[in-house]
Amino acid sequence: MPVAAPPTQDALLAALAKVNDPEIRKPVTELGMVKSVTVDESGHVALEIYLTVAGCPMKDTLRRETADALLRVPGVVSVDVSLDVMSDEQRAALRTQLRGGVAEREIPFAKSGSLTRVYAVASGKGGVGKSSVTVNLAAALAAEGLKVGVVDADVHGFSIPRMLGVTGRPTQVDDMILPPISHDVKVISIGMFVPGNQPVVWRGPMLHRALQQFLGDVFWGDLDILLLDLPPGTGDIAISIGQLVPTAEILVVTTPQQAAAEVAERAGSIAMQTHQRVVGVVENMSWLELPDGSRQEIFGSGGGQTVADSLTRLIGAPVPLLGQVPLDTDLREGGDSGTPVVLSNPDSPAAVVLRAIARTLAQRSRGLSGRSLGVSPVKR
Ligand SMILES: Nc1ncnc2c1ncn2[C@@H]1O[C@H](COP(=O)(O)OP(=O)(O)OP(=O)(O)O)[C@@H](O)[C@H]1O
Ligand SMILES: [Mg+2]
Repeated sequence: MPVAAPPTQDALLAALAKVNDPEIRKPVTELGMVKSVTVDESGHVALEIYLTVAGCPMKDTLRRETADALLRVPGVVSVDVSLDVMSDEQRAALRTQLRGGVAEREIPFAKSGSLTRVYAVASGKGGVGKSSVTVNLAAALAAEGLKVGVVDADVHGFSIPRMLGVTGRPTQVDDMILPPISHDVKVISIGMFVPGNQPVVWRGPMLHRALQQFLGDVFWGDLDILLLDLPPGTGDIAISIGQLVPTAEILVVTTPQQAAAEVAERAGSIAMQTHQRVVGVVENMSWLELPDGSRQEIFGSGGGQTVADSLTRLIGAPVPLLGQVPLDTDLREGGDSGTPVVLSNPDSPAAVVLRAIARTLAQRSRGLSGRSLGVSPVKR
C-alpha cells in the first residue's frame, strides 16, 4: 500500500478553519486559538489549542471537533490534542477583535486622576443591611447635591432596583448602557438584565466580566461618588473589585451581635489582599427606640466598635465607626416601597444617622488616599 505523503501545515490549518469555537461561533483559527499544529513524517499530528478560559465547559467538544477535522485530512493517521489557556493579554486581544477592533472601554474610576470616590459596601454575613445602607447613603448623598451612582454587585441576590424604586431597564445606545435614574441616583443591577426574578448562576469569570461591563460600558458621566453593593462575605466579587477599581474603599456593615473578630478578619483580609482601604464601619440594627425614648438592644451591643477596633489593629490605619443605625420600621418600609427612608421620613431615627454618615462621606475631600481620615468614632 502506497504511503501517502504527510499533509502540509496549510492543509491542516484549512481543516481547522472549518471548526468553530462552540461558544463564540467563529473559526478557531480566526480567534487565535490554535497555538501550534505540527505533523511528523508518518502522519501523526500534534495540535495545541488555547482555551479562552481555564475550565472552559466546551473543552471536550473543542477537542473532539478539532481532532475529527484533522483526521479527515488525507495522510493524517492520528491526532493528539493538548489544551492550554490564553493569557490575559491574548484574551484582551481577542475581545478587541470581537468588538470589531475597538479596544475595550476603560473603567473611568480606575484611571489615575479620577475624582470619583468609590465605596464598596461589604459585610461578613448576609442580611445585616448592606443594601439598605447602600441605597440610603446614595439617596442622602444625591439629596445633598452630589452626583451619585450605585452598582448592585450582588448578582446572586440583587435587591437594589426594588429598594430604589427602579422599574425601568437600561437604555442601550450603540455599545453604551445608560443607567436608569431614581431619586437622582444612577443605578445598574444585574436584576435589570434577567427576565423576572430568575436566580443568576454565574461562575467567577462571568461575574468579573459583568462587573467590568457595569463599570466600563455603563455611561456614568462625572460622578462624585459610586457605591457598590457587594454580596455577603468575601469572594470573587470583592477580589474583582480590587482588581478593577484598585482605589475603591471598603465600607463594612455589621450588626452589634456579629462575631466581630470574624467579620473584621474577613473584611480586613480582603482589604490587605487587594490593598484597599477601609473607610469605616457602620453598625446596623443597633437598637430599637421605645416609645418612652429608651433603647432596647435587641442584638446586643458593641459589635460595630469592636469590628472597627479590630480592623484598625489588623490594617494598621484608623478605621472609624461611622455610625450606629437603629432598627426602624420606616427603613424597612422605605426599602419595600422604593423610597429610601432618608427621603420618605428624614427625621426618623435610622434616617438621622444615615444622613449623618452620608455627610461624613461627602465631606471627605477627594484624593485623600493613604492619609488619615480625621474622622472620630461616633460616641453615645
Ligand atoms: N435598621 C433597620 N431597621 C429595620 N429593618 C432593617 C434595618 N436594616 C435592614 N433592615 C431590613 O432587613 C432586611 C435585610 O436588609 P438588607 O437587604 O439591606 O441586608 P443585606 O445585608 O443587603 O442582605 P443580603 O446579604 O441578603 O444582601 C431587609 O428587609 C431590610 O428592610
Ligand atoms: Mg443585599
